[in-house]
Parts: sequence; structure tokens; C-alpha cells
Amino acid sequence: MNYPVPMTPTPDAPENLDLYPTAPSNDALGAVPVIDLGPLLAGDEAGLDEIADAVGRACREWGFFQVVNHGVSAQTVDAAWTATREFFARPRTEKERWLRTRENPWGYYNNELTKNRRDRKEVFDFTTDGEDPIYEMENRWPGSPPGFREALAGYRDAVTALGLRLLRAFSVGLGLSPDHFGPLFDTSHTGFVRLNYYPVADPLADSDVVHQPEAELGVHHHTDAGALTVLAQDAVGGLQVFRAGQWHDVHPVEGAFVINTGDMMQVWSNDLYQAAVHRVLAMKGTDRYSIPFFFNPAAGAVVEPLPGAVSSERPPRYRPIPWSDFRYKRTDGDYADYGPEVQISQYRI
Ligand code: OGA
Ligand code: NI
Repeated sequence: MNYPVPMTPTPDAPENLDLYPTAPSNDALGAVPVIDLGPLLAGDEAGLDEIADAVGRACREWGFFQVVNHGVSAQTVDAAWTATREFFARPRTEKERWLRTRENPWGYYNNELTKNRRDRKEVFDFTTDGEDPIYEMENRWPGSPPGFREALAGYRDAVTALGLRLLRAFSVGLGLSPDHFGPLFDTSHTGFVRLNYYPVADPLADSDVVHQPEAELGVHHHTDAGALTVLAQDAVGGLQVFRAGQWHDVHPVEGAFVINTGDMMQVWSNDLYQAAVHRVLAMKGTDRYSIPFFFNPAAGAVVEPLPGAVSSERPPRYRPIPWSDFRYKRTDGDYADYGPEVQISQYRI
């Protein structure tokens, strides 16, 4: 296929990125790197520097990497998988008791839009305990399957700890002190977990509620809005990242988490790290599940290029972005067609 290749592909580039080809498995660029986090867990400075280098390279080249030896126990991850599968197996009418609303984004949804097109998937979203600081709404936990809340709160806390460790490597890679991001994430972050279910069959095929037209992808191409995403995927596959004019499979690696950078990391890094454009293919033979944790800064964070990423040759490329405004606008666009989706390009200087 002979499509023009944008120099810096962004989801709002005029070309339809979904028409680009998938890279062959022996592609010269190789695959998304797998990083062993052992040295980071050891807690010493040499280990931190080593991981910061590996993470920095992966972010400049792919915006994606996988981590193994990450310190999250297999038991915690298995409990989250079981809870996820059991929840989505419940009848649709039962799941729809937890339907999210425009006011409260926490709960179940089967009509989500990316770039105003419906994705072929079901999701369940939850955040930290208590009222979240952006929507001022609480999680809605279904009473069944039994142990759902406990398993998933445990998972959330474990991936939050992993996210905090990774942020130390990100800050060192950007020439800052390891604790730079701490105050924006430690206790007041606005991260949330999403359970994704990608069924082979359209989940709204037998629904009589008004819904958007049939989806042809699991998730249309997009960037994640926040700082970084920590994602568990099952063995089915279908996640792809866009790089150099081709889609590259992010192959499932047993026991690994997939990490990708989001829009806020692109702004902080002043475009050194591009928020990775990615998508999920529609499932053909087997249903797929994934569990991303979107690690987002505090509601009051105002995100702008960091001093380490700015110089006289590389002046700031973005105006300051108030995180809660950005997040609020993005969620509104995902929930229903309330106008075009907000993008960081709108804040470009
Ligand atoms: C997302 C996403 C990827 C996946 O939920 O934003 O990109 O593998 N998910 O499910
Ligand atoms: Ni995503």
C-alpha cells in the first residue's frame, strides 16, 4: 500500500492511520523492547540510572515497552483477571445496572467512542477510594462476582506502586531528580483502572437502546491522555503501536506489563517522548481481555515542558495545560459525541 507517511503521526493528522499496513514479523525495527526492572527494584542509584536509560531509549523510539521482574505478584494479577472475566460474563442487563453516566464516569460502559466512533468492547472503570477530585464521584462496585472489589482494589494499589517506581526512572531520564513527579502523583493522583473486554460478537447487537453504528476495531487509534499507562494483556494479542508508517504488534509476553507514554508525558518532555499512537484490532476467533491503569497527575497539575527538556535550541512547544480541564474534555468526547476530541496539538505554541 502506498500511503503518505506523516513525519510525526498524530491521531488528528488528516490521513486515516488505520489504513496503514501492519509491519511483517521480521521488520528491521524489531519489536517493542522488554525491560527487566530488577535493577530498579534493587533501589540503588546505579540501577535507577540503568533503567532510566533503557526507558528513555524505548520512549524516544517507540513510546512503548514491556516490563518483566516488575515486583507485582502473580497472585495479585491472577485475582484481577478472575474478577474481570467473571464480571463480563454476567448478563448485559445486570452489568447495565452499573452504567456510567455523563456525570459519573465510574462503572460499566458498552458504547464508548474513540474519535467519535464506537469501539467494539465493554469496559468497567474505577479509581482511588472516596470521591475523585475531578468528577467528585465515587466508584460504583457491583456486589457480584464475590470478591470483585477486594481483588481489583489490591490490583490498583500494586500497579500504582509500579507506576511510581517507573516515574522515578522517567524523571531521571529527563534530567531531573528521581522525586520530581512525586508530589503530583504520590497521594493525589487521578489515575484509574479500566477493565477491557473485547468480544468477538458486537456487544450491542441485540440491544434495543440507541447506539452508535457498528465498530470495526476493538479500539480505534488514539493516544492515552495522561502520563503513562501500565497494561496487563492476556495471550490473545491485537494491540498495535504505530511507528514509521506501519502498525507493529505488541506481542503478549507472559507475566509482563505493557507500558506506554501518554499526552502529558509528551508535553513534559517537550516532544522528546511522543505519546504513542495505538489501537486494538477487532477480535476474530477469541474474546480478549486487558487491564490498563492510566496513571494521571493530581487534579491541580498544570502540565508544561520541564526545564530539563527545554533549551534555547529547543524552546517550549506547549502552553501550560490544566490537567483536569484536559481530562474532563477527553472523557466527555469518549462518552458521547459532544464535539471533537481535545488534543494536545491545540496547546502547541
Ligand atoms: C486503552 C487501550 C489497549 C489494550 O484502553 O486505552 O489502548 O490492549 N487498550 O486493550
Ligand atoms: Ni490506549
